[in-house]
Amino acid sequence: MESANTYWADRSALEWQVELGATDAIGDAPVDRYALEVAAPKPKAPAAPKTPPPVPQPAEIDAPALAAQAAATATDLAALSSAMQAFEFCDLKQGARSFVFCDGQPSARVMIVGEAPGRDEDRAGKPFVGRAGQLLDLMLAAIDLDRAHADPAQAVYITNVLPWRPPSNRAPDKAEIAMMLPFLERHITLADPDVIVLMGNIPCQALLSRTGITRMRGSWVEVLGKPCMPMFHPAYLLRNPPAKREAWADLLALKARLRGDAGA
Ligand code: URA
Repeated sequence: MESANTYWADRSALEWQVELGATDAIGDAPVDRYALEVAAPKPKAPAAPKTPPPVPQPAEIDAPALAAQAAATATDLAALSSAMQAFEFCDLKQGARSFVFCDGQPSARVMIVGEAPGRDEDRAGKPFVGRAGQLLDLMLAAIDLDRAHADPAQAVYITNVLPWRPPSNRAPDKAEIAMMLPFLERHITLADPDVIVLMGNIPCQALLSRTGITRMRGSWVEVLGKPCMPMFHPAYLLRNPPAKREAWADLLALKARLRGDAGA
């Protein structure tokens, strides 16, 4: 009975396969494909870790070198001002309201170099217009100098190490000073004063690579081949009025130098 059942079951299975289009037997023994384990897909070889294509790195920016190139192209003060305004590598530019380049008479015998614009200078677009600037004007007047004077012998020309205000009036950092130094040096070369005055430590750091204004003030040094006097910054004098005594001595030394006194 069982074999008859098997016969009919096998036969109907065969007929079903023929119906499906099977034409040839490919093995001697039937294969129960339901009983076969589903062949597990071959494990894929682990994919090699994808290394992203190298991202082209912008060449390291040498901001002082770019500043030097830009400064060298300026053949007059107007061109220098434009070159500085177009210089995009000093972040201070982003936070400042104004570009502060200079004040006074470019042909003056005396060039004063300060630190950087403060809040008042940032608003006005001119150096030394706040309280420290007012004291500076008084100091200059005491030796018959005036930034607005038409006569170069009695006028002064004023700039700063940095043309943009540092946030919250913080001190300029070394990178900012180094970056803007080529412009300052070009500024001095183009203005070509007889005498330079450095107000406080920041211009000393920039142009003399030294700080310590208390020791340096009052002695003549040389910057770009010109006589140069480091002095206390007027903002320091506002905080330390007794230091005005030394500042007065330095102003007299400046006056004597301008008169051409021997030994001054
Ligand atoms: N202090 C500076 O050194 N420069 C300015 O312009 C104003 C304040």
